[in-house]
Amino acid sequence: MKTKIALCLAVVMGFLSLPVPARVNVSKPSHVNNSGFDRRVDDLLAQMTIEEKVGQLNQLFYFKQFMQPEMVEPGIREGKIGSLLFVTDPVIINRLQKVAVEKSRLKIPLLFGFDVIHGFHTIFPVPLAMASSWDPALVEQMQSIAASEARAVGIRWTFAPMVDIARDPRWGRIVEGAGEDPFLASRMAAAHVRGFQGADPSSPGRVLACMKHFAGYGAATGGRDYDSAFIADTELYNVYLPPFKAAVDAGVGSAMSAYMTLNDVPATGNAFLLRDVLRTEWGFKGFVVSDADAVGDLVTHGFAEDKADAAYRALTAGLDMEMSLPGQSPKGHAYATSLTKLVQEGRVSKEQLDAAVRRILEAKFKLGLFDNPYADESLVATIHNNPEHRRLARIAAQRSMVLLRNEGNILPLVKGDAKVSSMAVIGPLADSKRDMRGSWSLADDMQSAVSVLEGIRTKVGAAVKVEYAQGADIARAYPSIFDVFNKPRPAPWSETQKREEFDKAVSLARSSDVVVMVLGEHEEMSGENATQSTLDLPGRQLELLKAVSELGKPLVLVLINGRPLDISWAATHVPAILEAWHPGAEGGNAIADILYGDATPGGKLPVTWPRSAGQIPIYYAHNNTKEPEFAKDFKSRYFDFPSSPLYPFGYGLSYSTFKFSNLRVSKPELKPGESTEVLVDVENTGRRTGDEVAQLYIHQRYGGASRPVRELKGFERLTLAAGEKKTVRFTLGKAELIYWSAASKGWVQDPAVFDVWAGSDATAVLTTTFRVVK
Ligand code: BGC
Repeated sequence: MKTKIALCLAVVMGFLSLPVPARVNVSKPSHVNNSGFDRRVDDLLAQMTIEEKVGQLNQLFYFKQFMQPEMVEPGIREGKIGSLLFVTDPVIINRLQKVAVEKSRLKIPLLFGFDVIHGFHTIFPVPLAMASSWDPALVEQMQSIAASEARAVGIRWTFAPMVDIARDPRWGRIVEGAGEDPFLASRMAAAHVRGFQGADPSSPGRVLACMKHFAGYGAATGGRDYDSAFIADTELYNVYLPPFKAAVDAGVGSAMSAYMTLNDVPATGNAFLLRDVLRTEWGFKGFVVSDADAVGDLVTHGFAEDKADAAYRALTAGLDMEMSLPGQSPKGHAYATSLTKLVQEGRVSKEQLDAAVRRILEAKFKLGLFDNPYADESLVATIHNNPEHRRLARIAAQRSMVLLRNEGNILPLVKGDAKVSSMAVIGPLADSKRDMRGSWSLADDMQSAVSVLEGIRTKVGAAVKVEYAQGADIARAYPSIFDVFNKPRPAPWSETQKREEFDKAVSLARSSDVVVMVLGEHEEMSGENATQSTLDLPGRQLELLKAVSELGKPLVLVLINGRPLDISWAATHVPAILEAWHPGAEGGNAIADILYGDATPGGKLPVTWPRSAGQIPIYYAHNNTKEPEFAKDFKSRYFDFPSSPLYPFGYGLSYSTFKFSNLRVSKPELKPGESTEVLVDVENTGRRTGDEVAQLYIHQRYGGASRPVRELKGFERLTLAAGEKKTVRFTLGKAELIYWSAASKGWVQDPAVFDVWAGSDATAVLTTTFRVVK
């Protein structure tokens, strides 16, 4: 994006020189008083010039860092811009909107979009953390707050949720999604969409959602962002597409095409994806926007001959709106510069153009923009500073953390413990407000985030002397595309400083009664354009951890990061490990709550956690090989290393213990299309209230295709008091038992015996079976 921004900066005024559409004076457009959308859209279409239609398909970035309203106002007035993204100031939004609805010929409002990914003013845990909560209702609540805060400033459209399945943690964008599993990710996708849009995206506090990146972006070769994805049809239908389908079923209003090529055809010009799957198979009625400059990328990919050909291919494949960086960047504005001519020459038909424009206008009508285009600036502060938002951010952070290890029940720490008068809080993430937030935190007040150090200090008060040492510094070797939005990080330490700070941290630990180390990654180390070649803890963090651990003090490791990292050493040497991800603005308080038992951890991993990068790709729902890993004498697939993960999918501890028993099916034999209930008892066998996520996995033993050894097909997060027992009910029916078969090139349900497991992660042992008969 940095290069892209530099390019636009050089030529930012460029589109002002585009040809001006013929002016017709219309004082009050006839659509204003109509009530039905169709009529109103028809009316407008009938009045629009080709250029004005093309304008509706043109979306531009607006970077406050180097743009002023004057730069886009002429284009808006002339009907050349249909949508802007990245404007977050309500005053500017209203100012630009006023130009559109009062000064442009047809008075068509602008649609303002932004990446409201995990909060706007109030930052919530990153989406991977949200998924770790296994609590779709909570995700829905968070996104409804995020929507209300964005909507308050006039943003009516979010580029979320990202529903890309990610099975390679080197890919930095794993942080933006729900992890590796299609079932969990589908439940999350629907929850995000409901949260953003509510029952009606035009209702107060709601925005239009945009599922992205359609499709297969998470399968980037080698985890390298933007790299080609090669996905067999079986994997596409059974793994990568279901979360998109779930978002469509939840009513998502828009979709974003992905940057990369899928099986050699760029997603942005991919008629199979955009037309056959999305519209024909799924009946999607919303509109599709490209990712930034992705239409122009059709040339870069060696797919389109030139920009005009790119515009032709994208539009005819089903891509409605083009997202471009401002100015005349070589890749951007393919629609703005070529579509008019393509229509005039008859290469693109008027019907094809109208179909795309219709979908954009429909969205604007559905959002109520024609009737209610402005933000109420007087309400912004009240909406943003609603204390409920911070309260939920804290609960959400607590519920999304995953306790990975707790040897000897070192956690929770005890407030007022007479043996503890001093605590060392150590590590490059310990005193960072910025890194609590995570990727795409671009419109909040960073200073309002609570660091771990602050959270712990507030929690323990004056009773414990809490001291801090950074101990190690970490940095990307190559810049981030987001650097332009942030103050630069402090310069890297010199070798001498590195040694001194390291020693300072170790001696602080030596003189303290308890040590909390906060290690992991900066926020810009995951997210877009943030691929890591290894999963190592950046910098000298592991060395520092080892040195501190050798002191033999009670030691807790808190991880702040956007991807699973290689913590194999810690997993056998550090007694307590808490995965906090980037927990959001209330992260520091929530971590302190968990450390001191004011909240009980209950999050579960939405990804299989590898022991090292060498195991990638690793995911639980793989097919059996001739040496099944569940067999008694199975050792490893490697001769030098275990092939089991460090932590399985679905894993996470609590401060209590749980027992699963009495797994049964209501109907041991069913016909295709019928359902059975699966019941299991879950009991809190510990001494305190705690959360457990009951998980249901199945395996089809045989049939028309080899099916995964296990597949998640149900889950429920429970809070149980000590000694409490609850029966959890799941339903398994056609939706859970069908799969897309390469043999028949379609969805099938095989007659077969199915294994069922219920338990607390993907290695659950409690099992039964049922059978589907012809
Ligand atoms: C990202 C999208 C994002 C868009 C707008 C792109 O670079 O891939 O996910 O929505 O920028 O910010």
